[in-house]
Amino acid sequence: MSQFFWKISFGLLAITQITQAWKLVCYLGSLDNSKSVEYTNAAELITSGYFNITKKTIVHAHGYRGNLTTQGTDLMMATCLSKPDLNCCAVDYAEEANFGQIPYLNFPLVVAKAYLVQNQLAQAWKILWQNGMKPETMHVMGLSLGAHVCGNAARTFRWLTNQTIARATGMDPAKPSYDGAFSIMPRIDQSCADFVDIIHTDTNRNGMATPTGHVDFFPNIITYRKTGVQEGCPPINYVENPPLSPKDACSHRRSLNLYVDAWCGDDQLLAAQASDEDEWASANFVPKVIARIGESIDTTLRGQFYLRTAGEPPYGLGEAGLTAQ
Ligand SMILES: *[C@@H]1O[C@H](CO)[C@@H](O)[C@H](O)[C@H]1NC(C)=O
Ligand SMILES: *[C@@H]1O[C@H](CO)[C@@H](O)[C@H](O)[C@H]1NC(C)=O
Ligand SMILES: *[C@@H]1O[C@H](CO)[C@@H](O)[C@H](O)[C@H]1NC(C)=O
Repeated sequence: MSQFFWKISFGLLAITQITQAWKLVCYLGSLDNSKSVEYTNAAELITSGYFNITKKTIVHAHGYRGNLTTQGTDLMMATCLSKPDLNCCAVDYAEEANFGQIPYLNFPLVVAKAYLVQNQLAQAWKILWQNGMKPETMHVMGLSLGAHVCGNAARTFRWLTNQTIARATGMDPAKPSYDGAFSIMPRIDQSCADFVDIIHTDTNRNGMATPTGHVDFFPNIITYRKTGVQEGCPPINYVENPPLSPKDACSHRRSLNLYVDAWCGDDQLLAAQASDEDEWASANFVPKVIARIGESIDTTLRGQFYLRTAGEPPYGLGEAGLTAQ
């Protein structure tokens, strides 16, 4: 009952704030050449040649307080553009993600805005689909709040079209409102796409600890439990390093950096399946099922996967990273 109440309240709040400021942006050849459209005009991406329905597509969304040039969205798009035969698109919802201006206090408003954006994003994909886009060529992904935006949009797309998007990747999906106490919003999970993989790098602070994908990666979880940060990230304390300040964001954004690193050719980001971190950390653990972070992941795999990484790129430690010691 109370969940229902809150969802309706958020929905109403979002609807009273409709601005349609957000845009779907697709790049062609370089970051300097892009086309941005409102969701109702998504078909223009195809007619203008910025979205080629014969190609595979990456759609990436930034997080809370982000925009296209912060939080690694540009890095993700540049990496995408360096690969042949991909449509490279981003969700530019900077206005919604920064709505209200008051840091932290505005988070519930931004969550309500994100709810609206994800529903309209699903509409945009429906329009693309009606114009020839093939859902089995779609790989949607996002960092933090953007992980929920793309994941939830993919689920809504399925409700709208009875078609399923191939893959959704969550990069440390945001925790507040989505996991743990006070989690009231639908979130990225297995119902979003045919294959959902999630990289969890900041499970005590900004990121979701609950595994909700088909595959969930927990890099450096033992080190993280001891130090509160990922390998190579500076130590933080709650007073000097408020949420998402540069030092605090290091562990949260490592999820995206690991993905980009893998995509740029680091094939050593191998992870071992275990039922939980205690099994993985036990002295007699032997890796059996192995998953690889990144584009080339085996989408038939299921479960939780653990690995150690280096503190800077190339992050992959290969087989040495498959055990906790
Ligand atoms: C779409 O991509 C294919 C394969 O790269 C290419 O042959 C075709 O000309 C492209 N279509 C448009 C409209 O750009
Ligand atoms: C993105 O955010 C950064 C940091 O808040 C800001 O400096 C920059 O001007 C923003 N870019 C755009 C295009 O709004
Ligand atoms: C939805 O898709 C499934 C699987 O492709 C199909 O069996 C079912 O008939 C479809 N339902 C509708 C209402 O189109």
